[in-house]
Amino acid sequence: MSSDPLYQQLADHYRHAIGARTLAPGDRMPSVRTLMATHGVSLSTALQACRQLEREGLLQARPRSGYFVCAPARPSITSIDEPTNLVADPAQYIGIHERISYVLARSQQESVKFNLGGASAAAGLYPIDALRNAARRALQRDPMLYGEAVKPRGHDPLRTALARLALAMRVQLSPDEILITHGCTEALQLALRAVANPGDVVAVESPTYYGLLQILESLGVRALEIPCSAQTGISLEALELAVRSYKDIKAVVAMPNLQNPLGSIMPDEQKATLVQWCEKNGIALIEDDCSSATADSDMALRAAKSWDRSGNVIYCSSLHKVLAPGMRLGWIAGGKWHARIEMLKFALSRPNEMLTQTAVAEFIVSGGYERHLRRLRAALKRQRDWMAQAVATSFPPGTKLSVPRGGMHLWVELPDGTSSEQVFERALQEGVYVAPGVIFSNSGRFEPCLRINCGSPRSAGLEEAVAIVAAVARKVAREAMPASGAAPVESAFRTTVA
Ligand SMILES: Cc1ncc(COP(=O)(O)O)c(C=O)c1O
Repeated sequence: MSSDPLYQQLADHYRHAIGARTLAPGDRMPSVRTLMATHGVSLSTALQACRQLEREGLLQARPRSGYFVCAPARPSITSIDEPTNLVADPAQYIGIHERISYVLARSQQESVKFNLGGASAAAGLYPIDALRNAARRALQRDPMLYGEAVKPRGHDPLRTALARLALAMRVQLSPDEILITHGCTEALQLALRAVANPGDVVAVESPTYYGLLQILESLGVRALEIPCSAQTGISLEALELAVRSYKDIKAVVAMPNLQNPLGSIMPDEQKATLVQWCEKNGIALIEDDCSSATADSDMALRAAKSWDRSGNVIYCSSLHKVLAPGMRLGWIAGGKWHARIEMLKFALSRPNEMLTQTAVAEFIVSGGYERHLRRLRAALKRQRDWMAQAVATSFPPGTKLSVPRGGMHLWVELPDGTSSEQVFERALQEGVYVAPGVIFSNSGRFEPCLRINCGSPRSAGLEEAVAIVAAVARKVAREAMPASGAAPVESAFRTTVA
C-alpha cells in the first residue's frame, strides 16, 4: 500500500487518467461530491487532490461549474539526452574563474535590463514585509542587540528551528550539530577546507553550479567532473569508473535535490547508494541542498544526509534562494568534521550577526516560512511552465529541454554547434543576460547550453526578454548550421519532466 497521503494517491489516480486520455482536455472532472462518494474520502482530501492537479496545470477550476481537464499546456520539446560518455573529465583547477568573472562582470553592467541568468526569484515573491516586521520586533525586544557579543554557532532558536525543518527531509540533527554560515557559499568553503587540501581532487557533477568551481579554484583543489543526468543526477557508474583512475578523490560534492543547473532529482535509492558508496570508498560526501524547498510537491524531498550513519555526509544549505536573497543566511551540519568546521568558521569569518538570525527564527517558528514556501512553489511552477512553453515555441528547432520538478531554472540545450557564448554576448547587447553553458564546467561539453531563470512572474518585460533571447538563439543556430544540413522547421517535440 502506498505511504503517500490520501490526497496524493487520489491525485495520482486522476493524473494517470488524464495522461491516458481517459479524461481528455475539456472533459469535466468528477465533482468533489462524486470523488467523496466514489472513493470514500473526506471533502478536504477530495479538494486537496483537485487543487494539486490544478497546481500542476492539469485541471482548471471554472466558477460554479467545477474542475475541467486542461488542454496540454505546451507544445512538447525533446528532452535532454542522458550522458553516454561516462568517463570523468580530467581534474583541473585553472581558468574557469577567469571565464566566470568575465561573464558575471558583463552581467552586472548597467545596460542589462533583464536578468535571466540569476539564481533567485523576483523580490516580490519573498516575504519582505513580514521579515522587516520581525526584525523590528527583534530590536524592540532587545534594544541592546547590536551591543552584545554574537553566539559562535549562531542564534540558538534558529538552529533549533532548522533542526526541526530538517526532520521533514528525514534528517535527524540536534541544534548543536548545526552551524550558521554566510550563505551556502561559506558552508561549501568550510566543508571543502575541512576535507581537502590544495592539489587534492574533488569530484563534482558535470555540469555544476559555477560558484562551486570558483570555490575549488580559489582553494587550489582540482575539480574532477562526473557526468550528471538531467533526470537522475550524478552518475554512480561514472563515479565507480573515476575512482579506479583517481585514487586520491577526497570528496564528492553533489546536489541530489534539484541539481543546479540541470534541475535533476536523484531517486531515493540512488541517494542511499551514493551515501553508502562514499562511505565504502573513504570519500566525504558534501551535499549541497539549497533548492530542495522549491520542489513542486509540498511533501519534502529526502536529503542524502538522512542515510548517513557515520557522519561522512556534510550537509550544506541556505535560506538565500528560498526565503530572502538579501540576508545571506546559510547553514552546515558537518558530520564527523563538525568541530573542525566550527574552528575554521571562527578563523575565517567569525559568527554571523544576530539580527537577521533572530528575525528569521521568529518567522520560521510562527509558521510564516511554510506558508511562504507553499506560495513560492506554486508561483515557481507557473513561471517554469510558462517559460518552458515559451522556449518550446520560440527557440530554434532541435532545442532540447527537460522541465525540472522544482527550482528556478531551465537548462536548455541549443542545437549542436550553437555557441551559447555568442547567444550570451548578442543577447547582452540587447539588454538581456542569460547564463552561458561554458561557466558550468571546465570541459567544453556544455558550449551549446544556456541556463534560464524562471524566478520572475510573467510580464510584458519578461516576454520581451525571452523573445530577444529566442531570436538571438535562432540566428546563432542558423549561422552555425551547415548549409545542407538545415533542420526542419517543424521538428517533432516531446516533453519530459526531470
Ligand atoms: C547550488 C548552489 N549552491 C550554493 C549556492 C550559493 O548559495 P548562497 O547564495 O546561499 O551562498 C547557490 C547559489 O546560487 C547554488 O545555486
